[in-house]
Amino acid sequence: MEEKMQQAGSVDRQQHADADIALGTLYQGNFIFMNILTMWNEEDKKYMEMALGLAERGLGHVNPNPMVGAVIVKDGKAIARGWHRKYGALHAETDALSSCKENPSGATMYVTLEPCCHFGKQPPCTSAIIEAGIAKVAVAMLDPNPLVAGRGVEILRESGIEVVTGLFEERARYLNRVFIKFITEHRPWVTMKYAMTMDGRIAAASGDSKWVSGEESRRLANEMRGRYMGILVGKGTVMADNPMLNCRTDGMRQPARIIADSKASIPEDSAIALSAGEYQTILAHTCAAPSDKLEILRRCGIKTMECPPSPDGRIDINALLQKLGEAGIDSVFVEGGAELNWSIVSRDLADEYFIFIAPKIIGGSTAKGPAGGRGIARMNDAVQLKTASAIPCGTDWLVHAFAARYGAYADICRREEMQACKEIK
Ligand SMILES: NC(=O)c1ccc[n+]([C@@H]2O[C@H](COP(=O)([O-])OP(=O)(O)OC[C@H]3O[C@@H](n4cnc5c(N)ncnc54)[C@H](OP(=O)(O)O)[C@@H]3O)[C@@H](O)[C@H]2O)c1
Repeated sequence: MEEKMQQAGSVDRQQHADADIALGTLYQGNFIFMNILTMWNEEDKKYMEMALGLAERGLGHVNPNPMVGAVIVKDGKAIARGWHRKYGALHAETDALSSCKENPSGATMYVTLEPCCHFGKQPPCTSAIIEAGIAKVAVAMLDPNPLVAGRGVEILRESGIEVVTGLFEERARYLNRVFIKFITEHRPWVTMKYAMTMDGRIAAASGDSKWVSGEESRRLANEMRGRYMGILVGKGTVMADNPMLNCRTDGMRQPARIIADSKASIPEDSAIALSAGEYQTILAHTCAAPSDKLEILRRCGIKTMECPPSPDGRIDINALLQKLGEAGIDSVFVEGGAELNWSIVSRDLADEYFIFIAPKIIGGSTAKGPAGGRGIARMNDAVQLKTASAIPCGTDWLVHAFAARYGAYADICRREEMQACKEIK
C-alpha cells in the first residue's frame, strides 16, 4: 500500500515537472504556434505564479469574463502588477501597464491568459502591449474564446514581440474552468454543494435542516455563493426552509436566485418573493404553471423562465441550464434539495462538488439524503466522481470533488495540496 502511494507520489512529481515545460507544439484551431522546447527558469516561474495569484483576486467579480493576472518585469524586478478586477473594468494587461512605476519599454510581461485582440468592453490588449514597447510576453494559456484563439499571440509576434506560451498552463486552465466551459459550450459551470451528517442526511425526517453543518462551514458556503452568477434550488427547499439565498459576505456580488418550480407554486409571501425587488430572482417553470400565479410573482419582481417539461412533468433540467447559459449566466451553484440534486446528478450535469460533512448522526429512514429520486439499481451504474481534496472546516470536513470527466482538475488540486504540504514541512 505504502509502496503504491510512493509510486503515485513519484508519478505526481514527474507530472508536476512536466507541467513546468512547455512542450513545443500547441494547437489551436488550424494554427501551430511553437515547435521548440521551452525550459522555464526560476524567475519565469516566480513571476507567472505571482500573476496567477493576482488573477485569483478577480474570483466572483469578473464573471462571465475570465480571471486574469499580469506582472511586468524589467531589469530583474517587477515594475507593475495588474489583474482584471471587475467585469467591464480594465483587463489585467492594461491594469498593469497603467500602474507601471517606470517606462515598460523593453520589459517582459507575464500574463495568465493570451492577450485579447478584439474590441469588447475594453479595447484590444495586444495594441496596448505593442504601444508600450513590451519586448517579451509569457502567456500561461491561450484564450479559448473563438474571437481570440491564438490570434492575440500571432499579432504580438507579427509586431516583433517574443511570445512564449504554456508556463503553468494547467493551473491557468484550472483557475478559469468556469470561463473555458462557458465560452466554448455556452453553458454554465455547475457546482453542487450540500451539507450532510455523518449518516448521510441533509435534513431530519421532519424536514428540519437548521443547521446540519457548523458555523465555519456555513460562513464558507455563504461566501461561495458570491463566486457564482446563479444559485439554483428546488421548490421543496423554498417550501421547507423559506430561505433568502443571498450572499452575505462583504464585497461579493449577489448571484441570481433561480427556483425550479414547475407549477409556480412558491407563495407570494415567501422570503424569496418578498425580496425579489432587491435580489435578481428567476422562477423556472413549465407550461403547467397558471398564468395568473406567474403574473403575481412577476409583480413581486421575479423574472419567469418557461422551460420544456421532462417526461415526469418537472422542468427539463438540461434545457434550464441551456437557457441560463443563453441568458449570460456562466456558473450555477446548486443548493438542493434532494430531488433537484438527483435530477442533476443522474444526468451527470454537475461539474464540481463541495460536500460539507458534519460530525452528527440523526437517523430516520425517511430523512432525506443529498440525492433523492429513484437512485440506481446497480453499483456499476453509479455516477463517478474524482476527489480533489478533503480538508477540515471548523467542526466539519469539506470534500471537494469533480465529475469524472474533469478528473484532470482534481489531479491539479491534489498536486497543489501536496506541494503546499511540502512547503509547510
Ligand atoms: N443540508 C443541505 O445542504 C440542504 C440543502 C437544500 C435543502 N435541504 C433540505 O432538503 C429538503 C428539500 O428537498 P426536496 O427534495 O424535498 O426538494 P427540492 O429538491 O428542493 O425540490 C424538489 C421540487 O422541485 C421541483 N422541481 C422542478 N423541476 C425539477 C426537476 N427537474 N427535478 C427535481 N425537482 C424539480 C419539483 O416540484 P414541482 O414538480 O412542483 O415543480 C420538486 O418536487 C428540505 O428539508 C431542505 O431543508 C438541505
